[in-house]
Amino acid sequence: MMRILVTGDRGYIGTVLAPFLRRAGHEVVGLDAGWYDGCDFGSMPDVGTSLTADVRDVTPGMLEGFDAVIHLAAISNDPIGHLDPGVTFGINTEGTLHVARAAKAAGVGRFVFASSCSLYGSGGSVALAEDAAFQPVTPYGESKVRAEQGLSALADDDFSPTYMRNATAYGSSPRLRADIVVNNLTGTAFCRGEVRLQSDGSPWRPLVHIEDISRAVLAALQAPREKVHDEAFNVGVDRDVVQVRDIANQVSAIMGCGVTFAEGAGADVRDYRVDFSKIHDVLDFDPQWSIDKGIRELATDMSQRGLSVEDFEGPRFVRLERVRQLMELGVMSPDLHLDTVGVSHA
Ligand SMILES: NC(=O)c1ccc[n+]([C@@H]2O[C@H](COP(=O)([O-])OP(=O)(O)OC[C@H]3O[C@@H](n4cnc5c(N)ncnc54)[C@H](O)[C@@H]3O)[C@@H](O)[C@H]2O)c1
Repeated sequence: MMRILVTGDRGYIGTVLAPFLRRAGHEVVGLDAGWYDGCDFGSMPDVGTSLTADVRDVTPGMLEGFDAVIHLAAISNDPIGHLDPGVTFGINTEGTLHVARAAKAAGVGRFVFASSCSLYGSGGSVALAEDAAFQPVTPYGESKVRAEQGLSALADDDFSPTYMRNATAYGSSPRLRADIVVNNLTGTAFCRGEVRLQSDGSPWRPLVHIEDISRAVLAALQAPREKVHDEAFNVGVDRDVVQVRDIANQVSAIMGCGVTFAEGAGADVRDYRVDFSKIHDVLDFDPQWSIDKGIRELATDMSQRGLSVEDFEGPRFVRLERVRQLMELGVMSPDLHLDTVGVSHA
Protein backbone atom coordinates (compact mmCIF):
# COMPACT_ATOMS: atom_id res chain seq x y z
CA MET A 1 0.00 0.00 0.00
CA MET A 2 1.34 3.42 -0.96
CA ARG A 3 0.33 6.86 0.27
CA ILE A 4 -0.29 8.88 -2.88
CA LEU A 5 -1.05 12.54 -3.52
CA VAL A 6 -2.99 13.17 -6.75
CA THR A 7 -3.04 16.76 -7.99
CA GLY A 8 -5.98 17.62 -10.26
CA ASP A 9 -8.04 14.87 -8.62
CA ARG A 10 -11.30 16.81 -9.15
CA GLY A 11 -10.97 16.96 -12.95
CA TYR A 12 -11.99 14.65 -15.80
CA ILE A 13 -9.26 12.02 -15.34
CA GLY A 14 -8.70 12.57 -11.62
CA THR A 15 -12.27 11.66 -10.59
CA VAL A 16 -11.76 8.28 -12.27
CA LEU A 17 -8.09 7.76 -11.38
CA ALA A 18 -8.30 8.51 -7.63
CA PRO A 19 -11.09 5.96 -6.93
CA PHE A 20 -9.27 3.46 -9.21
CA LEU A 21 -6.12 3.74 -7.06
CA ARG A 22 -8.17 3.47 -3.85
CA ARG A 23 -9.81 0.30 -5.15
CA ALA A 24 -6.30 -1.06 -5.80
CA GLY A 25 -5.61 -0.65 -2.06
CA HIS A 26 -3.68 2.63 -1.97
CA GLU A 27 -4.31 5.61 0.27
CA VAL A 28 -5.06 8.64 -1.90
CA VAL A 29 -5.24 12.32 -0.98
CA GLY A 30 -6.17 14.89 -3.62
CA LEU A 31 -5.07 18.48 -4.23
CA ASP A 32 -6.95 20.68 -6.67
CA ALA A 33 -7.75 24.38 -7.17
CA GLY A 34 -11.40 23.47 -7.80
CA TRP A 35 -11.87 25.08 -11.22
CA TYR A 36 -14.57 22.59 -12.16
CA ASP A 37 -16.22 22.07 -8.77
CA GLY A 38 -19.94 21.77 -9.39
CA CYS A 39 -19.49 20.90 -13.07
CA ASP A 40 -20.79 17.43 -12.44
CA PHE A 41 -22.09 14.81 -14.84
CA GLY A 42 -24.73 13.04 -12.77
CA SER A 43 -23.97 12.65 -9.09
CA MET A 44 -20.39 13.08 -7.90
CA PRO A 45 -18.94 10.11 -6.04
CA ASP A 46 -17.21 10.73 -2.73
CA VAL A 47 -13.87 12.32 -3.69
CA GLY A 48 -12.33 11.39 -0.34
CA THR A 49 -9.84 13.85 1.13
CA SER A 50 -9.05 16.59 -1.37
CA LEU A 51 -7.17 19.73 -0.37
CA THR A 52 -8.11 22.94 -2.15
CA ALA A 53 -4.91 24.66 -3.29
CA ASP A 54 -3.17 25.98 -6.38
CA VAL A 55 -0.13 23.93 -7.42
CA ARG A 56 1.84 27.17 -7.64
CA ASP A 57 1.36 27.60 -3.87
CA VAL A 58 2.30 24.07 -2.75
CA THR A 59 4.89 23.77 0.03
CA PRO A 60 7.09 20.77 0.96
CA GLY A 61 5.16 20.52 4.23
CA MET A 62 1.99 19.66 2.28
CA LEU A 63 3.76 16.70 0.65
CA GLU A 64 5.43 15.12 3.65
CA GLY A 65 4.61 11.48 4.28
CA PHE A 66 3.67 10.60 0.70
CA ASP A 67 5.37 7.82 -1.27
CA ALA A 68 4.32 9.21 -4.66
CA VAL A 69 2.84 12.27 -6.34
CA ILE A 70 0.70 11.88 -9.45
CA HIS A 71 0.60 15.26 -11.10
CA LEU A 72 -2.48 15.82 -13.26
CA ALA A 73 -3.32 19.44 -12.39
CA ALA A 74 -2.87 21.61 -15.46
CA ILE A 75 -4.35 23.76 -18.13
CA SER A 76 -5.54 20.68 -19.94
CA ASN A 77 -6.10 21.71 -23.54
CA ASP A 78 -5.02 23.93 -26.39
CA PRO A 79 -7.88 26.48 -26.28
CA ILE A 80 -7.16 27.51 -22.65
CA GLY A 81 -3.43 27.25 -23.40
CA HIS A 82 -3.85 29.89 -26.13
CA LEU A 83 -5.54 32.40 -23.77
CA ASP A 84 -2.18 33.45 -22.34
CA PRO A 85 0.83 31.28 -23.18
CA GLY A 86 2.78 32.86 -20.29
CA VAL A 87 0.20 31.61 -17.81
CA THR A 88 0.15 28.20 -19.52
CA PHE A 89 3.89 27.87 -18.96
CA GLY A 90 3.42 29.29 -15.44
CA ILE A 91 1.05 26.45 -14.48
CA ASN A 92 2.02 23.55 -16.73
CA THR A 93 5.79 23.98 -16.66
CA GLU A 94 6.77 26.12 -13.67
CA GLY A 95 3.86 24.85 -11.55
CA THR A 96 4.85 21.26 -12.32
CA LEU A 97 8.48 21.90 -11.42
CA HIS A 98 7.44 23.76 -8.28
CA VAL A 99 5.43 20.70 -7.11
CA ALA A 100 8.30 18.39 -8.09
CA ARG A 101 10.88 20.40 -6.13
CA ALA A 102 8.54 20.46 -3.12
CA ALA A 103 8.03 16.69 -3.45
CA LYS A 104 11.77 16.10 -3.66
CA ALA A 105 12.40 18.32 -0.63
CA ALA A 106 9.74 16.36 1.27
CA GLY A 107 11.43 13.05 0.44
CA VAL A 108 8.76 11.78 -1.99
CA GLY A 109 10.51 9.18 -4.17
CA ARG A 110 8.13 8.83 -7.14
CA PHE A 111 6.64 11.56 -9.35
CA VAL A 112 4.28 10.46 -12.12
CA PHE A 113 3.62 13.28 -14.56
CA ALA A 114 0.57 13.48 -16.83
CA SER A 115 2.28 14.43 -20.06
CA SER A 116 0.72 14.22 -23.48
CA CYS A 117 1.27 12.77 -26.93
CA SER A 118 0.59 16.30 -28.16
CA LEU A 119 4.27 17.04 -27.61
CA TYR A 120 4.79 15.12 -30.87
CA GLY A 121 2.56 17.74 -32.51
CA SER A 122 2.72 17.22 -36.23
CA GLY A 123 4.49 13.92 -36.60
CA GLY A 124 2.96 12.87 -39.92
CA SER A 125 2.59 9.31 -41.12
CA VAL A 126 5.26 7.49 -39.06
CA ALA A 127 4.22 6.02 -35.69
CA LEU A 128 6.38 7.84 -33.15
CA ALA A 129 8.10 6.08 -30.26
CA GLU A 130 9.29 7.79 -27.09
CA ASP A 131 12.66 8.78 -28.57
CA ALA A 132 11.08 10.77 -31.44
CA ALA A 133 11.79 14.49 -31.74
CA PHE A 134 9.35 16.88 -30.05
CA GLN A 135 7.40 19.03 -32.48
CA PRO A 136 4.71 20.71 -30.39
CA VAL A 137 2.46 23.04 -32.37
CA THR A 138 0.76 24.81 -29.44
CA PRO A 139 1.77 26.44 -26.12
CA TYR A 140 0.03 23.53 -24.36
CA GLY A 141 2.22 20.97 -26.15
CA GLU A 142 5.34 23.08 -25.60
CA SER A 143 4.52 23.46 -21.88
CA LYS A 144 4.55 19.64 -21.53
CA VAL A 145 7.90 19.38 -23.35
CA ARG A 146 9.48 21.94 -21.01
CA ALA A 147 7.98 20.25 -17.94
CA GLU A 148 9.43 16.88 -18.92
CA GLN A 149 12.85 18.43 -19.54
CA GLY A 150 12.77 20.23 -16.17
CA LEU A 151 11.67 17.09 -14.35
CA SER A 152 14.43 15.07 -15.96
CA ALA A 153 17.00 17.52 -14.57
CA LEU A 154 15.63 16.81 -11.06
CA ALA A 155 15.96 13.02 -11.39
CA ASP A 156 18.50 11.43 -9.02
CA ASP A 157 18.93 8.44 -6.70
CA ASP A 158 16.14 9.66 -4.41
CA PHE A 159 13.70 11.14 -6.94
CA SER A 160 12.25 9.25 -9.90
CA PRO A 161 10.05 11.19 -12.30
CA THR A 162 8.08 9.26 -14.94
CA TYR A 163 6.43 10.88 -17.95
CA MET A 164 3.11 9.36 -19.00
CA ARG A 165 2.47 10.71 -22.52
CA ASN A 166 -1.25 10.14 -22.68
CA ALA A 167 -3.10 9.81 -25.95
CA THR A 168 -6.29 11.86 -26.27
CA ALA A 169 -8.62 10.57 -23.59
CA TYR A 170 -12.24 9.50 -23.91
CA GLY A 171 -14.89 7.98 -21.69
CA SER A 172 -17.47 8.83 -19.09
CA SER A 173 -16.41 10.62 -15.90
CA PRO A 174 -18.17 12.42 -13.05
CA ARG A 175 -16.42 15.53 -14.45
CA LEU A 176 -17.13 14.91 -18.12
CA ARG A 177 -15.29 16.92 -20.78
CA ALA A 178 -17.09 17.81 -24.02
CA ASP A 179 -14.01 19.26 -25.69
CA ILE A 180 -12.18 16.04 -26.57
CA VAL A 181 -12.92 14.29 -29.78
CA VAL A 182 -14.76 11.04 -28.93
CA ASN A 183 -16.81 12.67 -26.17
CA ASN A 184 -17.54 15.66 -28.41
CA LEU A 185 -18.74 13.65 -31.39
CA THR A 186 -20.84 11.33 -29.20
CA GLY A 187 -22.41 14.20 -27.24
CA THR A 188 -23.20 16.19 -30.36
CA ALA A 189 -24.85 13.11 -31.85
CA PHE A 190 -26.84 12.65 -28.63
CA CYS A 191 -27.87 16.31 -28.23
CA ARG A 192 -28.23 17.44 -31.85
CA GLY A 193 -28.77 14.26 -33.80
CA GLU A 194 -25.69 14.75 -35.98
CA VAL A 195 -22.00 13.84 -35.83
CA ARG A 196 -20.43 17.23 -36.49
CA LEU A 197 -16.77 17.27 -37.49
CA GLN A 198 -14.70 20.35 -36.61
CA SER A 199 -11.95 19.38 -39.09
CA ASP A 200 -11.90 17.62 -42.46
CA GLY A 201 -11.55 14.33 -40.55
CA SER A 202 -8.17 13.41 -42.00
CA PRO A 203 -5.89 13.93 -38.93
CA TRP A 204 -4.62 10.88 -37.07
CA ARG A 205 -5.31 10.70 -33.34
CA PRO A 206 -4.20 8.18 -30.77
CA LEU A 207 -6.97 7.58 -28.24
CA VAL A 208 -7.17 6.00 -24.80
CA HIS A 209 -9.94 5.45 -22.28
CA ILE A 210 -9.55 7.26 -18.93
CA GLU A 211 -9.79 4.01 -16.99
CA ASP A 212 -6.88 2.66 -19.07
CA ILE A 213 -4.93 5.87 -18.27
CA SER A 214 -5.59 5.02 -14.60
CA ARG A 215 -4.42 1.44 -15.23
CA ALA A 216 -1.19 2.76 -16.78
CA VAL A 217 -0.52 5.04 -13.80
CA LEU A 218 -1.02 2.10 -11.44
CA ALA A 219 1.36 -0.01 -13.52
CA ALA A 220 4.01 2.75 -13.36
CA LEU A 221 3.58 3.13 -9.58
CA GLN A 222 3.90 -0.57 -8.95
CA ALA A 223 6.83 -1.13 -11.33
CA PRO A 224 10.36 -1.47 -9.93
CA ARG A 225 12.02 1.92 -9.76
CA GLU A 226 14.66 1.14 -12.39
CA LYS A 227 11.96 0.50 -15.02
CA VAL A 228 10.36 3.93 -14.64
CA HIS A 229 13.17 6.20 -13.40
CA ASP A 230 13.35 9.23 -15.75
CA GLU A 231 11.45 7.23 -18.37
CA ALA A 232 8.73 8.32 -20.80
CA PHE A 233 5.84 6.06 -21.83
CA ASN A 234 3.33 6.66 -24.57
CA VAL A 235 0.00 5.70 -22.99
CA GLY A 236 -2.43 4.13 -25.43
CA VAL A 237 -2.89 1.15 -27.68
CA ASP A 238 -1.90 0.64 -31.32
CA ARG A 239 -5.39 -0.45 -32.44
CA ASP A 240 -6.82 2.90 -31.29
CA VAL A 241 -4.65 5.17 -33.42
CA VAL A 242 -7.30 6.29 -35.89
CA GLN A 243 -8.31 9.08 -38.22
CA VAL A 244 -10.92 11.46 -36.87
CA ARG A 245 -13.32 10.49 -39.69
CA ASP A 246 -13.13 6.85 -38.52
CA ILE A 247 -14.26 7.93 -35.06
CA ALA A 248 -17.08 9.92 -36.68
CA ASN A 249 -18.18 6.88 -38.64
CA GLN A 250 -18.17 4.72 -35.50
CA VAL A 251 -20.23 7.29 -33.59
CA SER A 252 -22.57 7.61 -36.57
CA ALA A 253 -23.14 3.85 -36.73
CA ILE A 254 -23.76 3.50 -32.98
CA MET A 255 -25.89 6.63 -32.55
CA GLY A 256 -27.76 6.23 -35.84
CA CYS A 257 -27.19 9.70 -37.27
CA GLY A 258 -25.29 11.26 -40.17
CA VAL A 259 -21.91 13.01 -40.32
CA THR A 260 -21.76 16.77 -41.03
CA PHE A 261 -18.91 19.28 -41.19
CA ALA A 262 -18.83 22.45 -39.04
CA GLU A 263 -18.56 25.74 -40.92
CA GLY A 264 -14.94 26.36 -41.92
CA ALA A 265 -13.89 22.78 -41.11
CA GLY A 266 -10.47 22.28 -42.69
CA ALA A 267 -7.19 20.55 -42.07
CA ASP A 268 -5.90 20.31 -38.49
CA VAL A 269 -2.17 20.74 -37.84
CA ARG A 270 -2.35 18.39 -34.85
CA ASP A 271 -1.81 15.19 -36.73
CA TYR A 272 0.34 12.37 -35.39
CA ARG A 273 0.58 8.61 -35.00
CA VAL A 274 2.15 7.06 -31.95
CA ASP A 275 3.79 3.71 -31.19
CA PHE A 276 2.68 2.07 -27.94
CA SER A 277 5.05 -0.92 -27.80
CA LYS A 278 7.16 0.32 -24.89
CA ILE A 279 4.40 0.55 -22.28
CA HIS A 280 3.13 -2.86 -23.32
CA ASP A 281 6.60 -4.45 -23.18
CA VAL A 282 8.05 -2.70 -20.11
CA LEU A 283 5.00 -2.21 -17.88
CA ASP A 284 2.87 -5.12 -19.13
CA PHE A 285 0.15 -2.59 -19.83
CA ASP A 286 -3.03 -4.30 -20.89
CA PRO A 287 -5.76 -1.81 -21.88
CA GLN A 288 -9.31 -3.05 -21.40
CA TRP A 289 -11.30 -0.54 -23.45
CA SER A 290 -12.07 0.03 -27.13
CA ILE A 291 -13.43 3.15 -28.82
CA ASP A 292 -16.62 1.31 -29.66
CA LYS A 293 -17.21 0.31 -26.04
CA GLY A 294 -16.37 3.85 -24.90
CA ILE A 295 -18.93 5.43 -27.26
CA ARG A 296 -21.61 3.05 -25.97
CA GLU A 297 -20.67 3.85 -22.35
CA LEU A 298 -20.92 7.59 -23.06
CA ALA A 299 -24.27 7.22 -24.85
CA THR A 300 -25.75 5.21 -21.97
CA ASP A 301 -24.60 7.72 -19.34
CA MET A 302 -25.79 10.69 -21.43
CA SER A 303 -29.21 9.10 -21.64
CA GLN A 304 -29.41 8.01 -17.99
CA ARG A 305 -28.11 11.35 -16.67
CA GLY A 306 -30.30 13.44 -18.97
CA LEU A 307 -27.55 15.42 -20.77
CA SER A 308 -28.80 18.77 -22.12
CA VAL A 309 -27.34 20.62 -25.10
CA GLU A 310 -26.82 23.73 -22.91
CA ASP A 311 -24.66 21.77 -20.48
CA PHE A 312 -22.80 19.93 -23.21
CA GLU A 313 -21.87 23.09 -25.08
CA GLY A 314 -21.46 25.38 -22.06
CA PRO A 315 -19.23 25.94 -19.01
CA ARG A 316 -20.27 22.75 -17.28
CA PHE A 317 -18.41 20.51 -19.73
CA VAL A 318 -16.32 22.78 -21.99
CA ARG A 319 -13.14 23.69 -20.11
CA LEU A 320 -12.48 27.01 -21.92
CA GLU A 321 -16.09 28.16 -21.33
CA ARG A 322 -15.77 27.39 -17.61
CA VAL A 323 -12.55 29.39 -17.29
CA ARG A 324 -14.20 32.31 -19.12
CA GLN A 325 -17.22 32.04 -16.82
CA LEU A 326 -15.04 32.16 -13.69
CA MET A 327 -13.23 35.23 -15.05
CA GLU A 328 -16.50 36.98 -15.90
CA LEU A 329 -17.76 36.24 -12.40
CA GLY A 330 -14.63 37.98 -11.12
CA VAL A 331 -13.46 34.97 -9.08
CA MET A 332 -10.55 34.01 -11.33
CA SER A 333 -7.62 36.39 -11.94
CA PRO A 334 -5.93 36.82 -15.35
CA ASP A 335 -3.16 34.47 -14.15
CA LEU A 336 -5.88 31.88 -13.39
CA HIS A 337 -5.69 31.97 -9.62
CA LEU A 338 -9.15 31.06 -8.34
CA ASP A 339 -10.70 32.82 -5.38
CA THR A 340 -12.33 29.69 -4.00
CA VAL A 341 -14.41 31.61 -1.49
CA GLY A 342 -16.41 33.25 -4.25
CA VAL A 343 -16.76 30.29 -6.61
CA SER A 344 -20.15 29.87 -8.19
CA HIS A 345 -20.97 26.44 -9.48
CA ALA A 346 -21.77 26.05 -13.17
N1 LIG B 1 -7.90 14.57 -21.19
C1 LIG B 1 -7.00 14.29 -22.12
O1 LIG B 1 -7.31 13.95 -23.28
C2 LIG B 1 -5.53 14.34 -21.78
C3 LIG B 1 -4.61 13.83 -22.72
C4 LIG B 1 -3.25 13.93 -22.44
C5 LIG B 1 -2.83 14.49 -21.24
N2 LIG B 1 -3.75 14.97 -20.35
C6 LIG B 1 -3.27 15.58 -19.12
O2 LIG B 1 -3.88 14.94 -18.00
C7 LIG B 1 -4.08 15.87 -16.95
C8 LIG B 1 -5.54 15.84 -16.50
O3 LIG B 1 -6.38 16.15 -17.62
P1 LIG B 1 -7.96 16.25 -17.48
O4 LIG B 1 -8.54 15.93 -18.79
O5 LIG B 1 -8.42 15.53 -16.27
O6 LIG B 1 -8.10 17.83 -17.23
P2 LIG B 1 -9.21 18.66 -16.45
O7 LIG B 1 -9.13 20.04 -16.99
O8 LIG B 1 -10.50 17.97 -16.45
O9 LIG B 1 -8.67 18.63 -14.95
C9 LIG B 1 -7.57 19.39 -14.52
C10 LIG B 1 -7.70 19.60 -13.02
O10 LIG B 1 -6.58 20.36 -12.59
C11 LIG B 1 -7.02 21.40 -11.74
N3 LIG B 1 -6.09 22.52 -11.88
C12 LIG B 1 -5.83 23.24 -12.99
N4 LIG B 1 -4.91 24.18 -12.71
C13 LIG B 1 -4.59 24.04 -11.40
C14 LIG B 1 -3.69 24.71 -10.53
N5 LIG B 1 -2.96 25.75 -10.96
N6 LIG B 1 -3.59 24.29 -9.25
C15 LIG B 1 -4.34 23.25 -8.80
N7 LIG B 1 -5.23 22.59 -9.58
C16 LIG B 1 -5.34 22.98 -10.87
C17 LIG B 1 -8.42 21.75 -12.21
O11 LIG B 1 -9.19 22.35 -11.16
C18 LIG B 1 -8.95 20.38 -12.64
O12 LIG B 1 -9.65 19.74 -11.58
C19 LIG B 1 -3.61 17.21 -17.48
O13 LIG B 1 -2.29 17.44 -17.07
C20 LIG B 1 -3.66 17.04 -18.98
O14 LIG B 1 -2.77 17.90 -19.64
C21 LIG B 1 -5.09 14.90 -20.59
